[in-house]
Amino acid sequence: MSNTQKFKVIYDTDPGVDDAMALYYALAHPAIKVVGITTTFGNVTVDQAATNALYLTAIANRQVPVTKGVKKPWVKAGEAPPHTIHGADGMGNLPTRLATTNQLDPRASAQFIVDMARANPGEITLVAVGPLGNLAAALKLEPELPRLLREVILMGGTVIEPGNVSPVAEANIWNDPHAADQVFTAGWKLTMVGLDVTHQVILPVALFKKIATHHQHPATDTLLHAVNFYAGFYSGLYPHVAKIHGCFGHDVLAFIYLTNPELFTTEQGRVRVAIDGLAQGQTMMHRKAFEYAQSGWEGHVPLTRVCLQVDAAASTTVLEQTLMGNWLVP
Ligand code: BDR
Ligand code: CA
Repeated sequence: MSNTQKFKVIYDTDPGVDDAMALYYALAHPAIKVVGITTTFGNVTVDQAATNALYLTAIANRQVPVTKGVKKPWVKAGEAPPHTIHGADGMGNLPTRLATTNQLDPRASAQFIVDMARANPGEITLVAVGPLGNLAAALKLEPELPRLLREVILMGGTVIEPGNVSPVAEANIWNDPHAADQVFTAGWKLTMVGLDVTHQVILPVALFKKIATHHQHPATDTLLHAVNFYAGFYSGLYPHVAKIHGCFGHDVLAFIYLTNPELFTTEQGRVRVAIDGLAQGQTMMHRKAFEYAQSGWEGHVPLTRVCLQVDAAASTTVLEQTLMGNWLVP
C-alpha cells in the first residue's frame, strides 16, 4: 500500500500498556492513518482509557478524534481493572503527566464507528484490542456495519495456547463474552490475533530503552516507563519472559498483522465464544472438514481467520524499525 493509499483505521482500545505500544506503532507506521480512537473499559475504567488515549495522542503531537465507549460488559457483572498488570492509571503509574489540551469527541464510541463507516463505506479497518462491547453496540445501531467496514482485526481469544485469565479464556474475550460472540458471528471480514501468536513474541524492555534514547521525546519516555512496569508483571509470571526482562506485545500484533500479514500463519474456521460456565470466555474454533450435528456450528456461522503462528523475530524487527522511524516532531 502506497503512502497516498493508507489503511484508514479506527482503533478500539483500553489503554493499557500494550495498547499504548500499539497506538504508537500505528501512528508511526507510514501505511496507517488512525482516523479515530474509540475507548472501552478493560485494563482500566473507560474514563481512564479515554484520558490515556487523549494523553498519548497529545504528547505525540497528534490530533485524532477520541471517543468514550462502553463502561461495562454487555451482560455479566464487571470486574475491577487489573492494576497489577497495567498500573492504576493504565500507564504503569506515571509519576507526572504533562499539561495537555486535547478534548474528547462527544459522540459515544459506537456512534462514532457507525458515522465513520457510513461516511467511508468499504474503507475503514477496525482494529479492536479490548473487550468488544463497542463493536456489539455499533452492530446494534447499524446492522449493515459488516458491509460498511473494510475489515475487523481483533486482539483476543486463543485456540491452542492456554488462556491468561482461565485455562481457556483470554482477557479481552473473558471481559465481555456476550459481546465477543456477537462479533464472531456478525459476518464481517474478521481476523483473530490471539494468544496463539501474541505469546510467541516477547519484547525486551531494552528495545523500548533504545527507542526512547533515540527519540528523546515525552511520548517514547512515557512508553518506556509503562513497558518497564508491565514487564515487571510478566517477568514475575513467566520465567522465560523474566530471562530477558520483557513482556508480551499483545495488541501491537494486531497492527503488525495489518501491515505484514505475510509474517503470520492462519487458518479459517467458525469461532464461537462460551458465554457462561467454567469455560466462560473460551474461543472455540470449528477446525474439522466435516459438519457437527450440534447446533451453533451450522454452515451459516461466518468464518474467522485465526492467527496460529507468527515469525517472532521478523515482527520484532518490524516493530523496532517502525518506532525508530521519523514519526515524532520535537
Ligand atoms: C489483552 O488483555 C489486555 O490486558 C491487553 O491490553 C490485551 O489487549 C491480552 O490478553
Ligand atoms: Ca488491550
